[in-house]
Amino acid sequence: MAELSVKHLLGIKYLNESDIQLIFETADHFKEVINRSIKKVPSLRDITIANIFFENSTRTKLSFELAEKRLSADVINFSAGQSSVKKGETLIDTVNNILSMKVDMVVMRHPNPGAGIFLSKHVNASIVNAGDGAHEHPTQALLDSYSIREKLGDVAGKNVVIVGDILHSRVALSNIFALKLQGANVKVCGPKTLLPKYVESLGVGVETNLRKALNWCDVANMLRIQNERLDISYFPTTREYTQQFGVNKAFLDSLDKEIVIMHPGPINRGVEITSDVADSKQSIILNQVENGVAIRMAVIYLLASKIK
Ligand code: CP
Repeated sequence: MAELSVKHLLGIKYLNESDIQLIFETADHFKEVINRSIKKVPSLRDITIANIFFENSTRTKLSFELAEKRLSADVINFSAGQSSVKKGETLIDTVNNILSMKVDMVVMRHPNPGAGIFLSKHVNASIVNAGDGAHEHPTQALLDSYSIREKLGDVAGKNVVIVGDILHSRVALSNIFALKLQGANVKVCGPKTLLPKYVESLGVGVETNLRKALNWCDVANMLRIQNERLDISYFPTTREYTQQFGVNKAFLDSLDKEIVIMHPGPINRGVEITSDVADSKQSIILNQVENGVAIRMAVIYLLASKIK
């Protein structure tokens, strides 16, 4: 049986192209399963998974939990806000206490970049990064590419622009790695202050004119401003940001071609995109969410097969 080259999913940076194709082929199977009347398979009846979230989440947390339950794994959930972390317990102590309850896999979201990498070196469990600060969000990038493949047939050769707060976005970095591995052409677009200086060294183009960027692309992935990570002001006002980098329906309809609109969520409606763009037939935002369950089932299933 084909297997992943990694024991943990810490970032797209650690995957190769074959890993991504294997995850997609496995997700194709699970997507078919979750559209049946009986949506559950017994594959992981002997596996226990802890979802530990040190940061807020709606989509990722629910999607992982549903994916695990669809695979028949036993699931425990941990939210830092209601835990003994508030009494000063360290990350390693917290996780080792959870693991002593015979847990096999840890899905973790954490505000600090590299938290998953750190944990993988100190505990004996398979670690899945569900977003670590402004570093990586690998399952989001996988479900994004999977959704492009589903909509346009392939990712290779497609022009994809990522618009907005690239500097603070883990979704942007993971998407850049994933899209480049699959042979897509990638540009980033946003205010210069929100584009990291090193971004061109990742093999992506930079465009600060939104109309030019959207007329070039097949797919626009519209990111939100990560207000929770802004230490200073990176643009004059939200209104001015929206005027230069927001997409409304009139703007979308005035482009040279029909493009696909994506967004990882949560959307700030009226800032990066208006409601009539988010809810338009060009938007695949809810398809992304649906595909997230199949992708996470595939990731967990493939990693579980590597647990000794
Ligand atoms: N896309 C994403 O990570 O959303 P949540 O923060 O709601 O999980």
